[in-house]
Amino acid sequence: MAQTEAMSELKQQALVDINEANNEKELQDVKVKYLGKKGSVTGLMKHMKDLPKEEKPAYGQQVNEVRQTIEQEIEERQTVLAKEKLDKQLESETIDVTLPSRRIDIGAKHPLTRTVEEIEDLFLGLGYEIVDGYEVEEDYYNFEALNLPKSHPARDMQDSFYITDEILMRTHTSPVQARTMEKRNGQGPVKIICPGKVYRRDSDDATHSHQFTQIEGLVVDKGIKMSDLKGTLALLAKQLFGEDREIRLRPSYFPFTEPSVEVDVSCFKCNGKGCNVCKQTGWIEILGAGMVHPNVLRMAGFDPEVYSGFAFGLGPDRIAMLKYGIEDIRHFYTNDVRFLNQFKAVEDRGEI
Ligand code: DAH
Repeated sequence: MAQTEAMSELKQQALVDINEANNEKELQDVKVKYLGKKGSVTGLMKHMKDLPKEEKPAYGQQVNEVRQTIEQEIEERQTVLAKEKLDKQLESETIDVTLPSRRIDIGAKHPLTRTVEEIEDLFLGLGYEIVDGYEVEEDYYNFEALNLPKSHPARDMQDSFYITDEILMRTHTSPVQARTMEKRNGQGPVKIICPGKVYRRDSDDATHSHQFTQIEGLVVDKGIKMSDLKGTLALLAKQLFGEDREIRLRPSYFPFTEPSVEVDVSCFKCNGKGCNVCKQTGWIEILGAGMVHPNVLRMAGFDPEVYSGFAFGLGPDRIAMLKYGIEDIRHFYTNDVRFLNQFKAVEDRGEI
């Protein structure tokens, strides 16, 4: 028996619907429409009961053929749709490995950090320890233990931020000297440098900042002489400003050293002839130093009859300004990336 007209129409329509289904959901709907419990093919089966007995098997077979054809077409369409979906996904997730990568901006060392580390490296190589101190310090260690009693006029040299009568923001890194010596119970040797931030009630201008950086140095042992200080500082000057540099000591005054000196280095720009960097003098002042005052040794528990020492205090801000030709100390602390990026550029070129 041939398929009834209704049957072949239904099959044609089903094939059209299957081909028009553009995704799995639509295809599922088509499946339900034809093959579901209330679907059209299932509906054809229901006519069976109205047919004469001898036509039933053939009719049943015809309906089954229609069902099988539809099932098969759905399956094929499903494979096609799945492949389309995968192709689309692969296309959208394609990575072009030949594209140049995005540049990752990595930072560079701050010029001050660079200067401090350069100085640290030198002293570590000479067997010094690096010691940290407190930025919020007791008046005792900031002044008294450094031979600056309460009434001492030299306290005015360092206008301070007081927090209470006895506590202040340290005005220099020298208190680390006193604290470190005190911990050693009168036993040398002590060989330390102490880098860190210090604070003074200065008005900020091109050469002053209320917060700046210092590095303190201290050596205490038996038989330490002024010549040891001089040799050490000569080495430092060469490290920072070049092999040909010389130093010059001028008498000065600090309450915690006796004798005290200001230390100048021969100008790295004009080699001592006189230029704008050294203000035509041929020399640039870089630090203060001296032999540790017997009172300072005694207060920290060292016997000045047995031990002697030298100390120095230098400002990495000024050193970095000189080295890199920076005209305003505030650039170090305002952290404008345009300023900082210049150091990155010269680092990239391998110039520093
Ligand atoms: N503390 C001094 C200052 O801030 C610098 C200094 C000078 C430190 C001489 C020293 C020294 O240890 O011996 O001005």
